[in-house]
Amino acid sequence: MPGTCGTMKVVCVVGARPNFMKIAPILRAFREHAPQVQAKLVHTGQHYDYAMNEAFFEQLGIPAPDISLEVGSGSHARQTAEIMTRFEEVLDTEQPDCVLVVGDVNSTIACALVAAKKGVKIVHVEAGLRSRDRSMPEEINRILTDQLSDRLYTTEADALDNLRAEGIDADKVVFAGNVMIDTLLASRARAVPARTTIEAAAPCGSGFSRDAARTAGPSIGTEVPPTALAQSIADPRGSGFSRDAVHSVEPPTPRHPGERLDPVPSVTSEATAPKDPATFLQSPTGYAVLTLHRPSNVDDPATLKRLLDTLTGISRDLPIVFPIHPRTRQKIQSAGLGNFFDNPQILALPPIGYFEMLGMMSDATVVLTDSGGMQEETTALGVPCVTLRENTERPITLTQGTNTLVGTDPQAIRAGVTQALSGNGKSGRRPETWDGHAAERIVTDLVAWLLG
Ligand code: UD1
Repeated sequence: MPGTCGTMKVVCVVGARPNFMKIAPILRAFREHAPQVQAKLVHTGQHYDYAMNEAFFEQLGIPAPDISLEVGSGSHARQTAEIMTRFEEVLDTEQPDCVLVVGDVNSTIACALVAAKKGVKIVHVEAGLRSRDRSMPEEINRILTDQLSDRLYTTEADALDNLRAEGIDADKVVFAGNVMIDTLLASRARAVPARTTIEAAAPCGSGFSRDAARTAGPSIGTEVPPTALAQSIADPRGSGFSRDAVHSVEPPTPRHPGERLDPVPSVTSEATAPKDPATFLQSPTGYAVLTLHRPSNVDDPATLKRLLDTLTGISRDLPIVFPIHPRTRQKIQSAGLGNFFDNPQILALPPIGYFEMLGMMSDATVVLTDSGGMQEETTALGVPCVTLRENTERPITLTQGTNTLVGTDPQAIRAGVTQALSGNGKSGRRPETWDGHAAERIVTDLVAWLLG
């Protein structure tokens, strides 16, 4: 039932990088329904590095969170439990009409679980995706969040079959489209050309510096300004994420005073050979974009080594630009594989901003990734994607899009890349309802449902 004076309050939850591009158009759509609907943004703080976090808020015009839980990193159990404990207080204070969660990260399931136990309605955006691989933490998060949800918005038709098979009533499910593609289509004009990012990162002869190799933002408990590189490529307007808006934080105290549960060990970045932008910008084959962060790919040193060896081989024909997730950097370092970066054909970058990544993918010959979101983004952009996973929860990117699953087998990876290089990579098409208006459909339906 709507709250006081006929108004409705929706608490929207974000926590990690892939949530931000999903929530941006939803919050915009909610603004069209103000003041009848009040949307409050809660950020759990699962991701906290500047480049994984504030940079996206700034670029995507997401308002600073109304409430920041500042949980930081930890084991799955500790992180999830910490989010739950802190989110319970939010629900007690805010008394919302519903909680809206997006995607499949730990913040998604943690907040859904708290809301369910408190009898608060739950709305899940990006429901029904299934990899059928329960060793993926996200698969557990998806299944359980969907079970708990009262309204489920899907991005592809197969999702309804998945939900039905798990006993979820089809009446709760709305095929609304893909909010991440809303953001992509709205942002294309602002994509930063790959040339700009590569030249900023690899001025000829200067190499990939020790500082630039670090993630851009501060660790919790310190107030370290973004590195010059990250600032120039991810924060052209300066650090505008309002520290003051993150409640309970006052400069010069730490940006996130909450204790991080498992501090990132300080990374002593590898010194690398100088990188020449021309290697990446003037190569006859173009360049590949690489991202890697799944535990299944980076946690086991033997698997990681096999992957990096394969990528080293590929880089001889196709130079690789590699924006690195902090956990991957740590894993490469701790596995003693840092010499991977010495290769002049591989340009390692800190995590880059959304507009930079959009430009980097758009201009690429092929994208090599284990990300879920990038499988969809490359499909929307019409760029071949070679997915370094055995399965995908986004099968429409295989059947209609540009995605090819190759797993971690070196031969299969090489074959996928060779196909893209020969110009025979999938061209695909943008799926139905990935039209830039998913968030509007979701919010219109949601308001009617809440009123109903
Ligand atoms: C999380 C999501 C994953 C998503 C990914 C996108 C879960 C289970 N996983 O994975 O689905 O694809 O985000 O990035 O929710 N770290 C930092 N700085 C940060 C954040 C993380 O250094 O801002 C490091 C920490 O060492 C941390 C590790 O990365 O322990 C992993 O972070 P975590 O949020 O647990 O999972 P991701 O791998 O980022």
